[in-house]
Amino acid sequence: MSNPDELLRIEGIRKTFPGVVALDSVDFDLRRGEVHVLLGENGAGKSTLIKMLSGAFTPDSGRILAGGQEVRIQGAQDAERLGIATIYQEFNLVPDLTVAENIFLGRQPRRFGVIDRKRMEAEAAVLLERVGVRVSPRARVRELGIARLQMVEIAKALSLDARVLIMDEPTAVLTSEEVEKLFSIVRTLREDGVGVVFITHHLEEIAALGDRVTVVRDGRSVGQVPASTPEEELVRLMVGRSIEQQYPRERAETGPALLTVEGLTRDGVFHDVSFEVRAGEVVGVAGLVGAGRTEVVRAVFGADPYDRGTVTVDGTGVRRHDVGAAMAAGIGLVPEDRKGQGLVLDASVEENLGLVTLRSATRAGLVDLKGQHTAAERIARQLGVRMAGLGQHVRTLSGGNQQKVVIGKWLLADTRVLILDEPTRGIDVGAKVEIYRLVNELTAAGAAVLMISSDLPEVLGMSDRVLVMAQGRIAGELPAGEATQDAVMALAVGAPGAPSDPSPSPTSPTSQTGTEASRGH
Ligand SMILES: Nc1ncnc2c1ncn2[C@@H]1O[C@H](COP(=O)(O)OP(=O)(O)OP(=O)(O)O)[C@@H](O)[C@H]1O
Ligand SMILES: [Mg+2]
Repeated sequence: MSNPDELLRIEGIRKTFPGVVALDSVDFDLRRGEVHVLLGENGAGKSTLIKMLSGAFTPDSGRILAGGQEVRIQGAQDAERLGIATIYQEFNLVPDLTVAENIFLGRQPRRFGVIDRKRMEAEAAVLLERVGVRVSPRARVRELGIARLQMVEIAKALSLDARVLIMDEPTAVLTSEEVEKLFSIVRTLREDGVGVVFITHHLEEIAALGDRVTVVRDGRSVGQVPASTPEEELVRLMVGRSIEQQYPRERAETGPALLTVEGLTRDGVFHDVSFEVRAGEVVGVAGLVGAGRTEVVRAVFGADPYDRGTVTVDGTGVRRHDVGAAMAAGIGLVPEDRKGQGLVLDASVEENLGLVTLRSATRAGLVDLKGQHTAAERIARQLGVRMAGLGQHVRTLSGGNQQKVVIGKWLLADTRVLILDEPTRGIDVGAKVEIYRLVNELTAAGAAVLMISSDLPEVLGMSDRVLVMAQGRIAGELPAGEATQDAVMALAVGAPGAPSDPSPSPTSPTSQTGTEASRGH
C-alpha cells in the first residue's frame, strides 16, 4: 500500500494535440496537507497537466491514482466525486448570471423543487465574506473587474469542500492584499488536510506558501525540490539556464514629447491628469487599488470617453473616444484583460499578430501578405511564442503565450506610443526579459512607452521615470534614481499634502476594473 497521506499520484502521463506534444512524460504526486507548486515556462504543460485531474482532458497514456487506486477521470463529475476542485487559468464563469448563480451553478439549493434564491444568496454571501471580497451575490458577473472575477472563482471552488484544490495562476490578477487573503485561506485548508496544487509565475510566492515544487519543462517533469529552494536555482531548473539581469533597461536618447496628456478628467473617475512621455522614454505608472490607472490609459487610447482635457501625439490633437483616431496617431494599447480585449481567440497566431498592421495596410490600399508573414514569424520567434506554427488558433495557446501574441501585435504595428497595462502578467521569468529587450528596442527606435504595472520591482526596474497615481490623480512623479519602493508607496497611499479626493469611494464599479495594488516582491 502506498503512503496513506497520498491523495493523488500521476505516473508517466502523456498528452498530445494535433502537431503538439503538450505532455511527454510527467510524474507528480500530492499529499494531504501540502501545497505542491507546479513550476514551468509558458507552454511547458502545467495547465494541460491539471486538466487531466479536473476531467477536462483525458491522457493518451500513463496512470492516475487516487488513494492508491487507479482511476479514470473522464469529466467534471468524476473529478467532483474524487473531491477535486479546480480554479482554471481562464475564467469559467457565465457573464450573464449573478455571482451567486455562478457559485452554485448546477447545484443550486432547492425548496419544493424550485431554486431557493434566498438560501443560495445567503450561502454565497458567506463564501464571499470568507475570501474577503466585497461584492453582492446578486451582481452580474459581467460587471466585475478581473480581480473580483478571480475571487468569485475561488469562492466557488471553496463551496465544493474539496480534498484536492487545484489553482492555476490564481494570483496573476490579484492585488497584494488579496494575495495575502488567499494565502491565509490556503494555509487554513492545508491545516485541514486539503492537498493544494498551486501554479504561479511569481517565484517569491513559492517559499511563502509552498511545501514542494515539481518543475515541468517541455512536457516533462524534470525535478522535484523543496519550496525553500533559492529562486536562482528554481529559475535554472525551469528555463535550463540562469538569468543574469532581470531588468535589462537600456536608456535611450530622449527626444521631444511624443504623448502629451493635459487636464484629462472623467468626472468621478480621474481628475486633471497631466503628463508627457518623450520619444525614447519608458514612463512607469504605479498606484493602489482604485487609483484609476487603467481608466486613464483606456481614455487616452479612445476606448473610453473623458469629460475634459486633451490628448496630443507629436503636437497633433487626438479625437476623444475614438480608438481609430488613436491608432492612426500611432497609439497602441496592450490591455490588462487579454481575453476580453486583446485577441481574436478563434483566429490564428498570424492573423492576430497582423490585426493592427492589416488595418493600416488595407487603408493604404495594399496588403503585403508575404511581408506580413515574415514579420509575424520574426516577432513570434523573438518573443519565443511556443506554438505548433503560425496557423495555430490562439485559443489553444498557453496563457502566457497568448499574452505574448497581444504584445507582438502592437510591436509589429509600428506603434509610436505604446501603452502597456500589466504587460507581463502570466509571463514566465525568462520570457519577461525578452519582452523588456523589445521595449528597449522600441525606445531605441524613438518610440514612447507608458507602462502600468502592479509589479513594483518591474516598474522600478524598467522605467526612466515613475508616475504615481492615487485616487484618480497623479500624486507625484519620481525620476528613476529616486523611485524606491518606499517612495512610490508613500505617494500611492496619499502622503500628507496629497490632494484630497472629491470622487466617490474607490468601490464604484468603474474604478474596480483593473485597478490593482502595487505588489511588493
Ligand atoms: N487544445 C489544444 N490544442 C492544441 N494545443 C494545445 C491545446 N491545449 C494546449 N495546447 C498546447 O500544449 C502546450 C502546453 O500548454 P499549457 O497550457 O499546458 O502550458 P502552461 O505550462 O500552462 O503555460 P502558461 O504558463 O503559459 O500558462 C502548449 O504548447 C499549448 O499550445
Ligand atoms: Mg497555463
